[in-house]
Amino acid sequence: MGSLTANFPQSKQDRCGWFQPTRGVCTDARNGNGSAWRLVLLGAPGVGKGTQADLLNKKLDACHLSTGDLFRAASKEKECDQSPAMRAAMEHMRRGELVPDSTVWEMVRERAGCIRCSAGFVLDGFPRTLGQAESLKRLMESERIPLSAVVNYELPLGEIVARLSGRRTCEKCKAVYHITGNPSKVDGVCDRCQGKLFQREDDLPESITVRMAAYERSTAPLIEFYKALGLLVSVAAVGSPDDICGRTIEALKHRP
Ligand code: AP5
Repeated sequence: MGSLTANFPQSKQDRCGWFQPTRGVCTDARNGNGSAWRLVLLGAPGVGKGTQADLLNKKLDACHLSTGDLFRAASKEKECDQSPAMRAAMEHMRRGELVPDSTVWEMVRERAGCIRCSAGFVLDGFPRTLGQAESLKRLMESERIPLSAVVNYELPLGEIVARLSGRRTCEKCKAVYHITGNPSKVDGVCDRCQGKLFQREDDLPESITVRMAAYERSTAPLIEFYKALGLLVSVAAVGSPDDICGRTIEALKHRP
């Protein structure tokens, strides 16, 4: 699989190890104090996982690791630098389908250092199938690293579609906006890095329908999987992003 060098974010959390696993050294990697958070975020496409992962990163200092961001960075690579598996992955993603487990797992396994990082992590968009969840469980058990919790965000479908169709993303730092709910100060320009904002290809209506069906079929069963492991924390994804983040932190503090 080709290395992902295009467009990696430059923020408080640079995620170099995640975007450049063979060469990247995170400038904000810290020595853990044994209390790092290791979270998985679950929820339908557009429920706000990326937005919450970003906020949780600031509050809990745990790195935001998104597999969707990895695929979007790979799609910016020259086609000749992409492996056949990655080119196939891009096609699945454009149509709104899930990328095959083998490709996703190869990418995550290459980045196992981020899972081991003593600063902890917030996994956004992974795992997304029972096969991926089993692979992650095996990896973490073999490394003797326990997950802290799995947060499942819940929101009615109508609200989710409105969030997806109005989403705009910064091509440079990946910051996420919404044309009415969370607009940038200058239209089309990122507040953080002045990068250009774009609409994701998979946020068009035909892809949204396919993504929702893939979620119901493949990802929703993870709710029961993590409930059975005693890790599930459910949070209503209504209200402002800050309200939801506060609710998440409260739910994490009071988890069983
Ligand atoms: P990925 O990037 O993971 O997409 P997703 O899961 O579909 O989730 P989204 O990024 O669409 O939504 P989100 O929940 O993060 O919401 P956001 O915070 O942006 O994956 C994309 C594709 O990659 C997949 O379809 C698949 O093809 C492939 N892929 C990735 N990982 C894979 C895996 N593990 N296995 C197989 N395939 C994989 O918010 C949405 C909008 O709402 C934004 O505009 C935001 O500003 C707004 N918003 C957020 N919160 C609020 C709020 N509280 N109030 C109002 N607006 C809000």
